[in-house]
Amino acid sequence: MKKYIPATTRYNTMPYRRCGNSGLLLPEISLGLWHNFGHVDNLDAAKQILHTSFDHGITHFDLANNYGPPSGSAEENFGNILKQGLGSYRDELIISTKAGYRMWPGPYGEWGSKKYLVASLDQSLNRMGLDYVDIFYHHRPDPNTPLEETMTALDLIVRQGKALYVGISSYNAEDTLKASIILKELGTPCLIHQPRYSMMDRWVENGLMEVLGDEGIGCIPFSPLEQGILTNKYLKGIPKDSRAAKSTGFLKKDQVNETVIEKVRKLNEIALKRDQSLAQMAVAWLLKDKRVTSVLVGVSSEEQLLDNLGALKNTNFNETELLDIERVLKE
Ligand SMILES: NC(=O)c1ccc[n+]([C@@H]2O[C@H](COP(=O)([O-])OP(=O)(O)OC[C@H]3O[C@@H](n4cnc5c(N)ncnc54)[C@H](OP(=O)(O)O)[C@@H]3O)[C@@H](O)[C@H]2O)c1
Repeated sequence: MKKYIPATTRYNTMPYRRCGNSGLLLPEISLGLWHNFGHVDNLDAAKQILHTSFDHGITHFDLANNYGPPSGSAEENFGNILKQGLGSYRDELIISTKAGYRMWPGPYGEWGSKKYLVASLDQSLNRMGLDYVDIFYHHRPDPNTPLEETMTALDLIVRQGKALYVGISSYNAEDTLKASIILKELGTPCLIHQPRYSMMDRWVENGLMEVLGDEGIGCIPFSPLEQGILTNKYLKGIPKDSRAAKSTGFLKKDQVNETVIEKVRKLNEIALKRDQSLAQMAVAWLLKDKRVTSVLVGVSSEEQLLDNLGALKNTNFNETELLDIERVLKE
């Protein structure tokens, strides 16, 4: 097997942004391993995507205990790819994982207890062959566990040296503020919040972004391309190898309906006038907000990755473009 040697030019073009008030810089585009890195996927393609990402300055890779399928297999495959060469650059990588969703049977296999979070991170480290992750997230709010317990578990994990920073995902504005206050008191400030955010899904604009700005917490939007809808791939129907067509994908065929695609067609025209692909415009649109630290994309091929990286050539929007986008979205 040929040893992986990263490009010497890897830091030449990628801009890095400070994550909230922390000391950590993240690339404007990060790569998520939710789909396309499980045991059901093509691992040569997965390895190529990771290597090409790092070659272009993507230093941040986002995982979770349940990514696959089957659950856990994305971490296992990522661990193997690290062992085959990329892992020699561990000090240049920011690796995150999460716990929150169902991982094993019984009462301790999901949600936000200290029991579950500590055990899950130990399992993740084992699967990836790592001593520590850079960021550990609570993956979803738990309505039944006291927030103090979940936040104390995050603080404990950092004190144990198993994670350097902690984050939360999909917490609403009110709970984010509460979590942030508890974590600051514990001495482990919340580094980052990972919400679902795209041109088509704007819930974060209803209070969450203000809290993140005020509290000095970074923001890394997930599903920025609406799982592929905000690209040109569904303009002529549903391709066989697309997420919407795959039985293992989380995008359902009925989400790619004519009403949605009509908007996508119009957004695509705006993107073309900007000399961008729609995927590039969707990434750039998120980066116009300086509270967004990094945009967390998923890709099923190296071509998609390179297309998305092209977004960084133009992240400025004029007033007319922004109004045109809003008009299409509200139609
Ligand atoms: N915290 C959470 O609860 C949570 C939830 C979901 C995701 N996430 C994180 O966010 C990451 C990204 O989420 P996502 O995968 O839904 O993101 P996304 O970027 O919205 O969608 C990725 C999909 O869009 C398509 N695509 C990407 N670039 C393209 C391009 N240039 N042209 C055409 N199609 C393109 C590909 O679909 P095809 O496979 O059809 O080619 C790709 O798999 C995940 O990997 C994960 O790390 C977190």
